[in-house]
Amino acid sequence: LASAPPLSLAEKYFQLRPDELSPLWGNPCDDPRHQRIWSKAKWCDTLPRVLVIGPQKTGSTALYTFLAMHPTLVPNQPSPITYEELQFFNNNNYLKGLDWYLNFFPPNQSNASQITFEKSATYFDGDLVPRRAHALLPNAKIIAILISPSKRAYSWYQHIRSHGDPIANNYTFHTIITANDSAAKQLRDLRNRCLNPGKYSHYLERWLSEYNSHQLHIIDGSLLRSEPAAIMNTLQKFLKITPHVDYNKLLKYDAKKGFFCQAMGNEKTKCLGKSKGRVYPPMEDRSAKFLKRYYTPHNTALSKLLVRLGRPVPQWLKDELSNG
Ligand code: A3P
Repeated sequence: LASAPPLSLAEKYFQLRPDELSPLWGNPCDDPRHQRIWSKAKWCDTLPRVLVIGPQKTGSTALYTFLAMHPTLVPNQPSPITYEELQFFNNNNYLKGLDWYLNFFPPNQSNASQITFEKSATYFDGDLVPRRAHALLPNAKIIAILISPSKRAYSWYQHIRSHGDPIANNYTFHTIITANDSAAKQLRDLRNRCLNPGKYSHYLERWLSEYNSHQLHIIDGSLLRSEPAAIMNTLQKFLKITPHVDYNKLLKYDAKKGFFCQAMGNEKTKCLGKSKGRVYPPMEDRSAKFLKRYYTPHNTALSKLLVRLGRPVPQWLKDELSNG
């Protein structure tokens, strides 16, 4: 029997087991052996039971805000680095470990009858996210929001433009979405980041390869915008949470903002900030036509997927697939 100093022992081990180089965190509470060695000063029963996965620009912040108004649902503590989004499963925060994530769900923030939840809109299309999320939260309920992928792409372009992205500020939306594979790398990268999340069926299938379809709830984002109370009604049933809250009483349409906002009494409302519901010029016709063609195979696959799952096909999807 031979041994070696810890570092070379570890190097040897990972040469033999390269598949274990990247960690995959599981829930210590799910395994009695792990729970026995888990520090008394730590916890693991406040991990989220609901994940809102986005994608970006579909109304995910509005949904997060509406969920947080429910007395049974408790969001994560805000992150000083990524604001309200933790973005744990999709980037290097994952390598900071389970403790890092758990600290956003301290046990004194919620009681036993409450359910913690998290929303990170970049989870939807993150390569590693479904597998990592399932390893830690196998029983979680997953919520995705879908709007017209063309509208989503345009909203995303406006979003990064106003965040000062130099490429988005130097190129028109049309130039970005029509960039071909011989275009400059930075343009192609931006095109991919803009268009890829709209390939909804591809990413949903990936989530469904980890989670059972009854754990996945798909929200029509255009209805979330126009009839949020009805959407929240159905969502409460899916989450099986009590008490049943009448969101007609909690939300009020704000004509100035053009969206439903939190009703504050005295006819007042509290709306999301300026970065949600931005005012920008309508999409050019040629871009709309290009995107309709571009997304047709993806939208057709989405329609088939929704039918297979027995879910309603949103009106915007029917419109996108119509010949008009
Ligand atoms: P625009 O700013 O392009 O209009 P996300 O929070 O996922 O980034 O999504 C932002 C989008 O949410 C906004 O895109 C807006 O259209 C939509 N939205 C839906 N309901 C909303 C609400 N009640 N208040 C503000 N924005 C809402």
